[in-house]
Amino acid sequence: MSINDLPGYEQVPREHRDYQIDWLHPDDIEQIVALETGFFPEPLTITKLTQLIQEPHTCYIVVRDGKQVIGYIGFQYFLAAAHTISMAVHAGYRREALATVIQKTADAVAKKHGARWFTGEVRVSNEPQLRFLRGLGWHEIGRCENFFKNGEDAIVVWNWL
Ligand SMILES: CC(C)(COP(=O)(O)OP(=O)(O)OC[C@H]1O[C@@H](n2cnc3c(N)ncnc32)[C@H](O)[C@@H]1OP(=O)(O)O)[C@@H](O)C(=O)NCCC(=O)NCCS
Repeated sequence: MSINDLPGYEQVPREHRDYQIDWLHPDDIEQIVALETGFFPEPLTITKLTQLIQEPHTCYIVVRDGKQVIGYIGFQYFLAAAHTISMAVHAGYRREALATVIQKTADAVAKKHGARWFTGEVRVSNEPQLRFLRGLGWHEIGRCENFFKNGEDAIVVWNWL
């Protein structure tokens, strides 16, 4: 059975405008780590990302413009819950609704795997991500103090699927 025969996988791969929405390929790993290093105080390393994608309940969805990764989400699903590892859109491709397409694709895949809700933690300083999720109807269900390694608090976010 190929990966595309598994339930939920009909959501990917597909086209969005001129971009391809696809599963992560090994060639994407370095690009994702480079993007994370540009955006996040605690980026994934190549070693950590390589370990994560080998875990059975990890899913990575990428958007490519040609061979360039311009957006991605990584998440894990456990029974009724799906949980975001991280997501991002390349700075040159923002406000094109790419994050919206990525999250909606992830929602559909997680739902097909039995997830009933999606959750995550967002830095209190990350107003773009909080606004983005509010726009998709996500709820901010609490604040977790000192969540990140640099001491920043997290807003715990949650959405029904
Ligand atoms: C947050 C992020 C993923 C949004 O990606 P994006 O592709 O630009 O988002 P979309 O185009 O789908 O935006 C949808 C809506 O979210 C809101 N939004 C997105 N970015 C915003 C910003 N910088 N400021 C305010 N609202 C924003 C808007 O309501 C937007 O709709 P509009 O463009 O019609 O006004 C992107 O800015 C990013 O990659 N940031 C760095 C990485 C990061 O912080 N990831 C999240 C933590 S894991």
